[in-house]
Amino acid sequence: MSTARAGAADVPADPAGPARARIDGGAGPEPIGPAGPPWAAMDAAIRARRSVKAFTDRPVPREVVEELLELAVLAPNHRLTEPWGFLVLGPEAKRALGRVLGRRKARKVADPAAAEAVRAKVEREVLAVPVILAVTCAEAEDPEVRAEDSAATFMAIENLLIAAAARGLGTHLKTGAVMDDPELRAALGVEAGRRIVAQIYLGEPAERPAPRPRTPAAEKTRWLE
Ligand SMILES: Cc1cc2nc3c(=O)[nH]c(=O)nc-3n(C[C@H](O)[C@H](O)[C@H](O)COP(=O)(O)O)c2cc1C
Repeated sequence: MSTARAGAADVPADPAGPARARIDGGAGPEPIGPAGPPWAAMDAAIRARRSVKAFTDRPVPREVVEELLELAVLAPNHRLTEPWGFLVLGPEAKRALGRVLGRRKARKVADPAAAEAVRAKVEREVLAVPVILAVTCAEAEDPEVRAEDSAATFMAIENLLIAAAARGLGTHLKTGAVMDDPELRAALGVEAGRRIVAQIYLGEPAERPAPRPRTPAAEKTRWLE
């Protein structure tokens, strides 16, 4: 049997071929764990994912971002409404996000000089993130569809986060009141009837955050008769 990578004799080759792109332009996916059954790489990616807050300045190739987005849109989606939208922020859009975020954070600081320092720091930090995606979701009038669409959009986001982790990339999902800031909406050109539901920061991790422990699933589970 052919294998996905040398030394992984028990990992069957992906019939779709190796991943088409990775951050260093190599031919296949980064090995992220020991060889094992076909699902081992997926399990390892889920376990490896962390919210990463510091990135190197290494650019993420456009084709890698495109590949992650292709995987995102395979998420389950009741009624196939395809409610998601993805805005990949270029330098101008990042500057606008930094401006809005900086101003919002600075408002909480009383001292004008300190507030200005906060504003400038936030702007600098946002500009330095290799890739920022704003994820939008259609706002259906029907509350049931709206809830389903929101859930599907976050499932698409999860696909992207896991696929990024599998490629050795770090992500940080962010939400909050800034999503509905009219200046941000205008700067990113978000159409009426859509809402920014999250931002995803993406890049090569400059840190490996410790896992944030979770309560074992068994303690969150009841097996019913
Ligand atoms: C819907 C959602 C919204 C989030 N929003 C934020 C946010 O606004 N700011 C932030 O720092 N982290 C945010 N996070 C990331 C969580 O704080 C993070 O997942 C949590 O601390 C667990 O850490 P881990 O992702 O490394 O396992 C968000 C996560 C989710 C699922």
